[in-house]
Amino acid sequence: MEKTALGPTTYLCPMPAVLIGAMVDDRPNYMVAAYCGLVQHDPPMIALSLAKTHYTNAGIRKSGAFSVNVATPELAERLDHCGIVSGRTDDKSGCFTAFYGSLGNAPMAAECPLNLECRLIQIVDFLGTNELFIAEIVGTYVNSDLVTDGHIDVARLDPLIFTVPDSMYRRIGDIVGRAWHIGRCTGPPTG
Ligand SMILES: Cc1cc2nc3c(=O)[nH]c(=O)nc-3n(C[C@H](O)[C@H](O)[C@H](O)COP(=O)(O)O)c2cc1C
Repeated sequence: MEKTALGPTTYLCPMPAVLIGAMVDDRPNYMVAAYCGLVQHDPPMIALSLAKTHYTNAGIRKSGAFSVNVATPELAERLDHCGIVSGRTDDKSGCFTAFYGSLGNAPMAAECPLNLECRLIQIVDFLGTNELFIAEIVGTYVNSDLVTDGHIDVARLDPLIFTVPDSMYRRIGDIVGRAWHIGRCTGPPTG
């Protein structure tokens, strides 16, 4: 297949579109992040790349905590609103219902079916537009009706995802195969 070179891009596809919760100026504030990903399995750690201009950043710095909330397609409009307006000018504390875990200062959004409670470990300054918040995931909360045998039923979770460059919210589709399983064969796969 012939390739078209597009130069440097951020076309990692798909991306998450998670809701970040943090205490800022003594109230919960929510924003959207697509630049968010796991960085270690054990202990579980996650990183969040935020533009330095955001209101959220100072709150995470001060409290040392934040939450990562996985939304559903039904919550897309509410989530998008939090990714458009800033808590500096608009009070977003009422956009979602905050609940708290063991840290006590990482507001999690009750309407989102999956919530990760995170304790800040380190901030990395890229000397550019963004800074990276690296955190340990100290708690996981999930709607009980989505738990089967102690695990999340991902098909019923229906997590909201995001694609660039079309800037679209989407949902995940069909199962392709079981990971660490379908590639088991004796020679190089041809299919
Ligand atoms: C789909 C989507 C993805 C976004 N991803 C990021 C991101 O990864 N990092 C970031 O700094 N801002 C991201 N934003 C922008 C912030 O969510 C937005 O500027 C927000 O209003 C900041 O809120 P705050 O000023 O209250 O902190 C995203 C917005 C949308 C709509």
